[in-house]
Amino acid sequence: MRISARLLSSVVQRRPFYVTTPIFYVNAAPHIGHLYTAVVADAIQRFEKLTNPDCKIIFSTGTDEHGTKIQQAAARANQSPQDYCDAMSKEYRDLFKEFHVEYTDFVRTTEERHLRAVKHFWKELKDQDYIYKAKYSGWYSVNDEAFVPEAHTREEVTDDGKVRVSVESGNKVEWTEENNYMFRLSAFKTHLKNWLKTDGVVQPAKFHNQLQEMVADDVYLPDISVSRPASRVHWAIRVPDDEEQSIYVWLDALVNYLTVCGYPDDELMKSRGRPWPADVHVVGKDIMKFHGIYWPAFLMAARRAAPRALLVHAHWTARGAKMSKSAGNAARPRDAPPAAARALRYLLLREATLADDANYSETKLINTANSELADTLGNLASRSTGAALNPRAEFPALPDPHAAGAAQLARCRSLQPTQALMRELELLPEICHKHYTNYQFYKAVDAVIRVLHLANLFFETLKPWELKKKPECQKELDVVLHITLETLRICSIILQPIVPDIAKMVLDRLLIPENARNWNDCEVPSWNLKDAVHETKKIQSGKFVLFPRVYVDKGERKASAKTG
Ligand code: MSP
Repeated sequence: MRISARLLSSVVQRRPFYVTTPIFYVNAAPHIGHLYTAVVADAIQRFEKLTNPDCKIIFSTGTDEHGTKIQQAAARANQSPQDYCDAMSKEYRDLFKEFHVEYTDFVRTTEERHLRAVKHFWKELKDQDYIYKAKYSGWYSVNDEAFVPEAHTREEVTDDGKVRVSVESGNKVEWTEENNYMFRLSAFKTHLKNWLKTDGVVQPAKFHNQLQEMVADDVYLPDISVSRPASRVHWAIRVPDDEEQSIYVWLDALVNYLTVCGYPDDELMKSRGRPWPADVHVVGKDIMKFHGIYWPAFLMAARRAAPRALLVHAHWTARGAKMSKSAGNAARPRDAPPAAARALRYLLLREATLADDANYSETKLINTANSELADTLGNLASRSTGAALNPRAEFPALPDPHAAGAAQLARCRSLQPTQALMRELELLPEICHKHYTNYQFYKAVDAVIRVLHLANLFFETLKPWELKKKPECQKELDVVLHITLETLRICSIILQPIVPDIAKMVLDRLLIPENARNWNDCEVPSWNLKDAVHETKKIQSGKFVLFPRVYVDKGERKASAKTG
């Protein structure tokens, strides 16, 4: 479904592929949950590039810098809001650099281009008569930056006495009465229902169903307040022609997706290939309502197309609760043992399903890194490319089936572990393509790891270290090395969206040219390439450690990497 829609729009119309992350609040340092949203989006854009190398990609991310929450955080840090935002926004950029999140645009809501976009968007809503002034009273959650209907709140008894909280997020709400501008959300019920009928518009299906239920329920569709008194929220964009009012931070934030397209400058939008509507907004389930109800309604009101798809993911939890700064259980990527941090991307995409929460622990990170990256993949790569078994540093050609060596190939192929490996490797690209297309990253990784287990079994059964000792077995050794290196080549091409740095190390080691690392380069294993000229190629020589095992000294909570 996604592929055919994509083919139509990007190949025929030559549209860019536009994928986004939410923009991140700068009131706290990034944690694992934030990194997760970003690596999901990054894996999507990398897969797109891999399968469609000629397509222009727009991958946007950024920081959400306005509102009470940021105002308060800056005051707590004893800094001006702008200085505070500059420093925190940089933390996100540094994080993304470290974890290979290759965005094409990083937008900050305090940038001039964004201010212009938000003010213009406001005027469009106003001109279409979807904004009106009213006295508003209700519960407001500063933490969620959202008004919460009375029916969605409950009383809780805490150490400070009774407080009212949002049922959805558990965050405290305060009673608020103010003069606001309202948006006629209630006018969009039918339009939203119709938008939600589009197949695959919200994935996974669990969240699609939840959104459909919300839209059917009037509690979620009252007219909403889209401004706050500037006297309360001064760190915000002012309502055009009304200095007394600040634009609601969620309206401000959502417009970032248009800012990146060059909106409202039509020439600029054209020069960027008219990327709107976005192909995929990646969002956590906590902000599904804002993206699946408010955002399409705002866009419809402004006579713009609603997003093509929302990809919603569940949460990372720690010690049984959603990881967050306010819950005090936020694990920061920076806190991971340095030797294991390289495996974080792998763990996040390998472990989590989109639909259900996943629990994070450092032990899980280290165990997964050691067993899969260091042992299953890393060891195989070291042994098959290292001097002990491969002293000439070669990717040997398969013997010509009609010449000398054919017998060894035939013998090797007749063994069960060889047959199992070859068969599974042949099927792997198609299987993984399907999983990536359905955003089931964990299934793609799982399929790769299963093939790598088969490759390890094949290696152990064929015992290349014994073949190496007998000159008459040289051809057979070449066959074993060829099949192993071909497995590593194909698996690494497939793993590029998940662990680009680690996959690159293997492909570099095998001296696979940059232009031979696309998806179609892994679709057919060498032994099925009918017209291929098989020739022996060089690989890099010298010691190769892909991922050193991580050892943690429990007493000091320090990690050290020991090689070999
Ligand atoms: N600023 C808003 C988004 C505006 S987009 C127009 C926001 N920011 S956030 O920093 O709180 O969250 C950014 C992303 O991180 C969201 O997708 C959110 O779901 C995700 N996560 C925050 N905590 C998370 C977990 N514990 N687990 C997984 N993702 C989580 O919301």
